Amino acid sequence: MKGNTMRIYSAIQPTGCITIGNYIGAVKNWIALQNDNECLFSIANEHALTVRQDPEAFRERTTSFFAQFLACGLDPEKSVLYVQSNVPEHSELQWILSCMAYVGELDRMTQFKDKSRKNEDNINAGLLTYPVLMAADILLYRADLVPVGKDQKQHLELTRDLAIRFNNRFGDTFVVPEPYIPPQGAKITSLQKPTDKMSKSDPDGKATVSIIEPRDAILKKFKCAVTDCDNSIRFDPEAKPGISNLLSIYSAFSGETVEAAVQRFDGKGYGTFKMAVGETVADALAPIRERYEQYLANKDELARLMKDGAAKAHAIAAETMKDVKAKIGFVAD
Ligand code: TYM
Repeated sequence: MKGNTMRIYSAIQPTGCITIGNYIGAVKNWIALQNDNECLFSIANEHALTVRQDPEAFRERTTSFFAQFLACGLDPEKSVLYVQSNVPEHSELQWILSCMAYVGELDRMTQFKDKSRKNEDNINAGLLTYPVLMAADILLYRADLVPVGKDQKQHLELTRDLAIRFNNRFGDTFVVPEPYIPPQGAKITSLQKPTDKMSKSDPDGKATVSIIEPRDAILKKFKCAVTDCDNSIRFDPEAKPGISNLLSIYSAFSGETVEAAVQRFDGKGYGTFKMAVGETVADALAPIRERYEQYLANKDELARLMKDGAAKAHAIAAETMKDVKAKIGFVAD
């Protein structure tokens, strides 16, 4: 940390599409943080290899995610924006940290258990060691703060443990990062199963909304969002997960607090409320979709920005690796 400026790091996997869950839980906060801090945000494409990818579609999706970063308002003049596989130090540090991470602590990760259940035909070693790669991402840049949604909390705890373990053994090397999990919107849930997380890879298209979705599709999805049948609009995630989720989404896109939204919709029916949420989301996302189309149309510029971002990230990552290699006893290269 330099003065009051923090080093911030976060990333997203290029699987499925960037959902409003990713936007509210993570990307929206990144945009706010980039003005006063030193930020790095990456497209974590190495993480996405834990599920089978079609090479051409994978490359295209990575570029599309980069264009969506820009369209959301992540600014390459303010933040370092890059693609993880363009900076080889990530996997280099991962190996070193893997040799300090215990199988028992990886085996315990909720996401490993979840993903193993969902990918029974492909429980690869990467699924198990994935949190170590995530730790490497963060520690490589000596980040102070990591803005993420609630589902990443356990991975952040492992990152902190690995940083402390390394520092204790080899001397002060890594910054022990703090997670930043927003008080509201850290777990946006599925529009169809409101007790489950809204997930990029949900095969049910009605359950998720992408940030570049056309207006009509957005309105339709909110219209058929699953709620309950007592027809009262209150924030109570335990008893009313569907309505509470819609209130969180409305609040994130309108800028109004949940309390003010509850008052605004007091006595109105669910139909009116769902329509209002859909319209608020569609209005807020329309300019993002428009900018996305413009960025995507200029592939050369996207390639230039990716290259530029990777060079900036590499400069920081290489410094850290030099220090790490010297500390652990690698001979100089
Ligand atoms: P990923 O790609 O699943 O999600 C990207 C970010 O979005 C958040 N998020 C949500 N927030 C609220 N509600 C939801 N329904 C929701 N779904 C996802 C996630 O918490 C995350 O912040 N392993 C990470 C990517 C990663 C990373 C990193 C993050 C790789 N390296 C280093 C931080 C630092 C992942 O799979 O996120």
